[in-house]
Amino acid sequence: MNVLHICADPKPTEESAAKQLAVGFFRTLAERNPDVEITNVDLYENPPPFLDYQAIRGFWFPVFIDGHKPTDDEQLAGAYGIEQGEIFNQSDVVVLTTPMWNYSVPGILKSWMDQVLSPSVTFNMDKNGTTPLHKVKKLILLVSSDDVLSQDDERDALTPVITHAFALAGIRDLSIAWADGQYTFRYTDAESRKQVALDAAEELAEEVTEELSAS
Ligand SMILES: Cc1cc2nc3c(=O)[nH]c(=O)nc-3n(C[C@H](O)[C@H](O)[C@H](O)COP(=O)(O)O)c2cc1C
Repeated sequence: MNVLHICADPKPTEESAAKQLAVGFFRTLAERNPDVEITNVDLYENPPPFLDYQAIRGFWFPVFIDGHKPTDDEQLAGAYGIEQGEIFNQSDVVVLTTPMWNYSVPGILKSWMDQVLSPSVTFNMDKNGTTPLHKVKKLILLVSSDDVLSQDDERDALTPVITHAFALAGIRDLSIAWADGQYTFRYTDAESRKQVALDAAEELAEEVTEELSAS
């Protein structure tokens, strides 16, 4: 099993609830799957560039403009996405570790998505829709927020962004472990909330193991 771990959290693990969920998830996953291959991409160590005009031309113009072949400059502008896409396409599972920032994902993760969830990188696209170039079966989201957010909370722009952006690439199996209520001034039960999310993350590692060994 190949697992790609994208980490979009700049804090050290001892200060980051989301990263602590990742520690629990990957500990359980490795215990249950001694052969698991994990590729860690820390976006703060290997940051994606903002998508610029050359990269947009290289990724998207071939879809909409007959005969457009990306130039060398356009390919260079998309090099980060192409390189990350090659790792992505070899993965069975993708794990995103992220805090909630301004009710969505940090900009660094959004930039990674803008590069990697592109035509000819992780899917092909024509007027009939998209066809995956990857074999990703599951997407796991490990997230932390200060607020307590109920299901379908209208303040949550993070889950819809992830859900719809990855669905375009053909990935619809999304599972989430969420440490919410981490604002300790307001929520005295922040620590127990984190523990519940940690249990959920470890449970997800068990589920991934069962589902992928059955497929
Ligand atoms: C720039 C920034 C924006 C934030 N925006 C939100 C927000 O919109 N909603 C929320 O609940 N928490 C917000 N927070 C708080 C973090 O989501 C919260 O502290 C979370 O536990 C951080 O996760 P981490 O400990 O894994 O880094 C924000 C924090 C920062 C630094």
